Amino acid sequence: MNSNPYEGPVVLGDDPSVGPEVQIDYPGYRSTRWRAPGRPLVPLPEEFHRLDGPVFGEQALQQFDNDLTRQHEGEPLGERIIVHGRVLDEGGRPIRGALVEVWQANAAGRYRHQVDDHPAPLDPNFSGGGRVLTGDDGGFRFVTVKPGAYPWGNHENAWRPAHIHYSVFGRGFTQRLITQMYFPGDPLFPYDPIFNSIRDPRSRELLIARFDIDQTQPEWALAFEWDIVLGRGGNGTTPLEEER
Ligand SMILES: [Fe+2]
Repeated sequence: MNSNPYEGPVVLGDDPSVGPEVQIDYPGYRSTRWRAPGRPLVPLPEEFHRLDGPVFGEQALQQFDNDLTRQHEGEPLGERIIVHGRVLDEGGRPIRGALVEVWQANAAGRYRHQVDDHPAPLDPNFSGGGRVLTGDDGGFRFVTVKPGAYPWGNHENAWRPAHIHYSVFGRGFTQRLITQMYFPGDPLFPYDPIFNSIRDPRSRELLIARFDIDQTQPEWALAFEWDIVLGRGGNGTTPLEEER
């Protein structure tokens, strides 16, 4: 038996009698109850699935979109880090030209957002948002500061492990995938129902970046490597939020 308090009895995906609302409504992660569909899904018109446009290109990016430490006059406080990786398909082939967007709390664990009012300081030199297009090898790289843990009120003494939110767009607006990247060795992992809403421990590991000494730059920044592997779940593919 796993002693993890969030290892509940919910079946994810492998029981055809379980509807999507049960799969998305995760016990212990309170707001999933409100987000999970309570009624049958509505098929969208075919034109909503068009893949020939709109599409993204280099013109969608600003100069410092991939460097969250240079978007203001001064540098943000915190531990400067480099995050890099590749977006791949299940066969290990690179996904080129994918728009990777990130958003995160500052080093003190505070989001620049009106609903985040917990008593940690905002940083005037940190907005917490970035974007980059993958290259021919599916690679992306950005510079930021390591986000802090933050309380989130889900239950008594609830704190999120440090994480960066990711969105990956495919060829158009209708292809968008959302997930989170974590940092190795975080002591909050066993207590976080969001992290543990991914049932398979091996899949959870796929959301944790690897410390990368080779890309770490002396006197400047630690580096972390994290690949995003797109697929229909399992087989080493990155868990996505729709699957929870
Ligand atoms: Fe977050």
